[in-house]
Amino acid sequence: MELKQELIIVLDFGGQYNQLVARRVRENNVYCEIYSYKTPLEEIKKKNPKGIILTGGPDSCYLPDSATYSKELFALGIPVLGLCYGAQLMQHLLGGKVERADIREYGKIQLTVDKSESELFENVPKESIVWMSHTDYISKLGEGFEITSHSKDCPVATYENTEKKLYGIQFHPEVLHSEYGSVILGNFIKNVCKCECNWKMDAFVESSIKAIKEKVGNGKVLCALSGGVDSSVAAVMLSKAVGDNLTCVFVDHGLLRKNEGDEVEAVFGPNGNYKLNFIRVNAAERFYAKLAGVSEPEKKRKVIGEEFIRVFEEEAKKIGKVDFLVQGTIYPDIVESGLGGESVVIKSHHNVGGLPDYVDFKEIIEPLRDLFKDEVRKAGLELGIPKHLVFRQPFPGPGLGIRIIGEVTAEKVKIVQDADAIYREEIDKAGLSMEINQYFAALTNMRSVGVMGDYRTYDYAIALRAVKTIDFMTAEAARLPWEVLEKVTNRIINEVDHVNRVLYDITSKPPGTIELE
Ligand code: XMP
Repeated sequence: MELKQELIIVLDFGGQYNQLVARRVRENNVYCEIYSYKTPLEEIKKKNPKGIILTGGPDSCYLPDSATYSKELFALGIPVLGLCYGAQLMQHLLGGKVERADIREYGKIQLTVDKSESELFENVPKESIVWMSHTDYISKLGEGFEITSHSKDCPVATYENTEKKLYGIQFHPEVLHSEYGSVILGNFIKNVCKCECNWKMDAFVESSIKAIKEKVGNGKVLCALSGGVDSSVAAVMLSKAVGDNLTCVFVDHGLLRKNEGDEVEAVFGPNGNYKLNFIRVNAAERFYAKLAGVSEPEKKRKVIGEEFIRVFEEEAKKIGKVDFLVQGTIYPDIVESGLGGESVVIKSHHNVGGLPDYVDFKEIIEPLRDLFKDEVRKAGLELGIPKHLVFRQPFPGPGLGIRIIGEVTAEKVKIVQDADAIYREEIDKAGLSMEINQYFAALTNMRSVGVMGDYRTYDYAIALRAVKTIDFMTAEAARLPWEVLEKVTNRIINEVDHVNRVLYDITSKPPGTIELE
């Protein structure tokens, strides 16, 4: 979406923290976009940014094949802040010297401010802790630059040329280990770039709706609605923009949580809060038939994904001509798919950039492609979507299909649905639902002997999982109160047929993963 507003550009040199830098900027209510360092200067100029931030990166700037940029960037009169590699590169290009350090600085380091009156150091004490991670260091500054802080092993921890509005920081202000990092970045944005900091979600939602209206005109729009946060927010935004011209297809693959299909229909269906053309396809039987005899996790994912496409395709054909397809792609999907910045591809299942070949349409609309997850939630609240949907925890596309170890059958789906519903209810009652990032029950393929009443049983074991995580790349098991675990266990064994044992999985990720398959 093209928005007329203050923009800060983050030029990505392949550092690990590029998304964090963008987040910190947005936390200051300034809109921010990440571009690869390969983006031509002309394109950057056209965006008319209020400031440019160069990120860290893995290279050594003095080597011939290292990532670099045109020197003209520093002569545009636009404030530039280099972070780590970015700070070194600026010096390398502007007459300073960067060398390999004898002592590699890594971790929490004490910073000493030498120029307290620097605009970067407003409300920053003379001594504080910062996060350093570098092998090279700046041994000499180019003409016009001065040192503004140092650490024990780093003579130039920050530098500036106020006249040219060029600044460099050797440490990582974007990570939380840097005590005053956010303040320093905020100072750059407010004091140096002179941003008014007025980027707000209501303005974003409003201008996005307007832009979609202009783009779509009277065209027909199709959206695959899963009930998850991203597709729900995208669908509601589209419906506000194009009304009746939007059709949402909700494929119930029979692998949703207990009552979930009905809950989605209650909100988005004909009796719900929105005037969507809502089509629910009850396709459980089709999916179970395809899954019969399939027990290998990746094969299951593939079967479910393909069947989903077939069902969706059939519905799309019934609708007739479609001009636009909506996707709930969000910003981390774009960056992780290697299209935004320079970071390596992490997940290949994100369908970003290309058009799926199963529906004939002219263009894709991704109204959330500039937003982080928590910003999508804010947009959802802004659009009036109920809180229980906005704060839903992630649920994998293949659904319970990957929470049933081994072959999927209708009977097993019912067992895991019932156990999971009890688990969720008790977590809610204990007031823990907002503290745990993802929690669910899974059905192990293990059966064991038990005794109930005077009878021998030979039934399944349910595994409970609850994890705390920030980015879902790493996670640790939540330390649930014993009483809660006991209550859930008793209830599952008493209320769910064919379960005689409940296990709590305390494996972290790595070495485990969050889902059991
Ligand atoms: P893992 O199990 O890899 O999960 O630690 C990390 C996050 O990704 C979700 N997940 C999936 N999401 N399709 C999806 O849409 C999948 O096949 C899939 N597998 C895992 C998982 O729920 C967790 O949030």
